[in-house]
Amino acid sequence: MSYTSAMRELIKKVEETRASRLGNYYPRMTPKEKEEVLKNHHPDYIENQFRQAKFGPNKGDRFPHELCDVLEAYPRIDCKNFSIKKVDYEVDVLVIGGGGAGASAALLAHEQGAKVLMATKLRFGDANTVMAQGGIQAADQPQDSPAVHYLDVMGGGHYSNIPNLVKALVSDAPFVIKWLEDMGCMFDKKTDGTMKTNHGGGTSRKRMHSARDYTGAEIMRVIRDEVLCRNIEVIEFSPAVELILDENGKAAGALLYNMETGEYKVVQAKTVIMATGGLGRLHTQNFPTSNHYGATADGLVMAYRAGAKLVFMDTIQYHPTGAAFPEQVEGCLITEKVRGLGAEPVNIDGEQFVYPLETRDVEASAIIRECARGKGITTPAGMSGVWLDSPMIELIHGEGTIERELPAMLRQFQRFDLDIRRDPILVYPTLHYQNGGVLIDENGETSVENLFVAGEASGGIHGRNRLMGNSLLDILVFGRRAGLQAADKALSMKDFKPSLSIEHVKNFVDELKNQGIEKRFASPILIPFKHRLSPNG
Ligand code: FUM
Repeated sequence: MSYTSAMRELIKKVEETRASRLGNYYPRMTPKEKEEVLKNHHPDYIENQFRQAKFGPNKGDRFPHELCDVLEAYPRIDCKNFSIKKVDYEVDVLVIGGGGAGASAALLAHEQGAKVLMATKLRFGDANTVMAQGGIQAADQPQDSPAVHYLDVMGGGHYSNIPNLVKALVSDAPFVIKWLEDMGCMFDKKTDGTMKTNHGGGTSRKRMHSARDYTGAEIMRVIRDEVLCRNIEVIEFSPAVELILDENGKAAGALLYNMETGEYKVVQAKTVIMATGGLGRLHTQNFPTSNHYGATADGLVMAYRAGAKLVFMDTIQYHPTGAAFPEQVEGCLITEKVRGLGAEPVNIDGEQFVYPLETRDVEASAIIRECARGKGITTPAGMSGVWLDSPMIELIHGEGTIERELPAMLRQFQRFDLDIRRDPILVYPTLHYQNGGVLIDENGETSVENLFVAGEASGGIHGRNRLMGNSLLDILVFGRRAGLQAADKALSMKDFKPSLSIEHVKNFVDELKNQGIEKRFASPILIPFKHRLSPNG
């Protein structure tokens, strides 16, 4: 569906101010202005959208209602009558999740000589990794260094990040890019063969490496191929629904649920790596999401029941630019690379109101504020948004830039007769990422021994706000580290004869009953509840 005639009239105002905006940089916010816009407009600050966890490792902590709902739900199995005596798979390392973190963990564990099994909820590769567009950060250029990268990450996270995790992230980054290239990943290059790099929000150096605007898909292509070529066993459509512990409370496997047959399978593993992704499909505060269908917080639920501590789960990332029109793509990601290449956010009067590359939390809050003060554009479906003036990209970098640098974006809108080279895009923040997750150490290990977590399900690296391009990086850095450590640990366990137990799940159910919590639905939910949402419509 192309823009309506009323919207076309409004676009004229954007066109009228375009020439004066070109080359005229909008000032960045002062620290005080940032604090104010966050406090008054970021969804994390809306108190009645949160409540305290009633029990468990984070008792008393403030979580979004939607997360509390799944954490404080009953298990899928009737654990009092459920037997895990028959073991179906015996492996060294079980990897739960088939995105970038799971795949890199599997590769490194396998490289150490461990027997690895990967279990995925949907198909291998159905994950936020393949939907990541704009790029991956790594300080591998002459004007940059891991130390500068470190400062950017800490600044973006409001200095709340766990320093050792950030150090691991930025130190491994240059090697991770080389690792990917050696496996055949095709990053964008200049004509002299050196890497093209760009800015993202909150970066002080150009260190965003990209593969057009399908960077995550390109990365997943090579690591998935590598897993398959090495004949690592992968079971699809078989999500884990509970962790299995040993008699000492250490992770010792998981219970898988076959979504096609409805059967349960018991996996015994010396170590377990959970790489189950985030919670986007819980649609906190009714936001649409850029996330894939499987992002339903499954890992958080299982790890929490097993006693793992969560961190920063009161902070959710709303990507500033989700599509607000047409309705069919509401919430889909409009990559930050669009702003990195020069597109500016503009209100209904054609006025720019924010510097395009503030950190994501600040940029999103500024857009929410603009709509709240009546300066947004209302769509026929009742959603409001602001313009992202994409035609500026061609004026700045020359004709053909959008087709070359943003082919996926161009095609996404061409399907609806919208040409982002000529017309701006209507955008509004979309739920993109959980900043927190299960607390890990530098090797991805959690407070539950032999349980490792990597990727979006983990927490602490990004503190209260992640910068663009550091998620594609963290899934690989911590996927690799977890794979290596989990395999080393597993291979050192010689007489592994655990007494498998789901006692922790039974205890959890007892606690639910003690708290008077009624049975409403079972979790992990696996498949999202909600479908069409609109935060402001
Ligand atoms: O805007 C983007 O391309 C998203 C990247 C990210 O979340 O890192």
